Amino acid sequence: MDSRRRIDRALKSCLDQATALPCPPRLGDAMRHAVFPGGARFRPEFCLAVAGACGDAHPALTDAAAAAIELLHCASLVYDDLPCFDDAAVRRGQATVHAAFGEELAILAGNALIVLAFETLARAGGPHPHLLPGLLRVIARGVGGPSGIVAGQGWESESDLDDLGRYHRAKTGALFEAAIIAGALTGGGDPLQWTGLGYRLGEAYQIADDIRDACGRPELIGKPVGQDRVHDRPSAVHELGLSGATIHLGDLVEKAAGRVPACAGRNDLLAHLRRWSEQLLAVPTPIAASIRS
Ligand code: IPE
Ligand code: IPE
Ligand code: MG
Ligand code: MG
Repeated sequence: MDSRRRIDRALKSCLDQATALPCPPRLGDAMRHAVFPGGARFRPEFCLAVAGACGDAHPALTDAAAAAIELLHCASLVYDDLPCFDDAAVRRGQATVHAAFGEELAILAGNALIVLAFETLARAGGPHPHLLPGLLRVIARGVGGPSGIVAGQGWESESDLDDLGRYHRAKTGALFEAAIIAGALTGGGDPLQWTGLGYRLGEAYQIADDIRDACGRPELIGKPVGQDRVHDRPSAVHELGLSGATIHLGDLVEKAAGRVPACAGRNDLLAHLRRWSEQLLAVPTPIAASIRS
């Protein structure tokens, strides 16, 4: 089964359980709307790819980790789109959750998805008591207040938001890092060998998102453009210029590739990384070519 189908099957299974009666039907619909049909699913794809590279020792636990990470990502987007944050009406080419269901249900759906993520981990981790605490810690760190997504969004309320890299690593890098480390843990690898790779991938991905925001077309990316300027958010394009941002993105991807440790599936993972980097920018770039397998 390809990885996209594997991820969607895992997501469907936990959402089916969570949204069955007695869940209020409109709340269940709002939760599904946040997760399906879904976006790129890059974070769970990396989790699966790293687990595979390490030997895929515990596939059901990998599926749960990948699903939990995507549920947390989807919840973060529900909040990011709210009127009090980026006030966006369209995401993934469809109405945002608050635009379709109202703010109250959007907030509740986001909360329910976060709880579901940790419930999914707890359920799948039962047979793996030696792995579960580490997995919970790693994934919580990716979304939490000190340096995860919540911190990233929190920096937007500070007056001295002057460190672009710190902002990008928190709001986006931390969950990529969690995806990589979680994949190493559930795949049977040594998570310590995999640190720092996901931060670089996530930072690169946020730069690509900043570029799309500055230069993309809404009908192609499924969300409004020009929002970083409208909301006065720090952006790699505003800070480094388009070519500076592109060069920085390439450096980060190359550094990430250099951190892939020796493992059984190293070449496959590097190939995955190369294909991913090719997707980051709509135009061909020398970045992808620079990653050697
Ligand atoms: C959007 O993430 C928010 C960022 C951190 C850039 P994605 O671009 O991964 O969103 P989806 O899941 O594909 O819609
Ligand atoms: C949001 O960043 C990142 C989150 C972690 C929620 P953006 O605000 O740049 O994401 P988009 O452009 O709305 O997808
Ligand atoms: Mg936004
Ligand atoms: Mg953006």
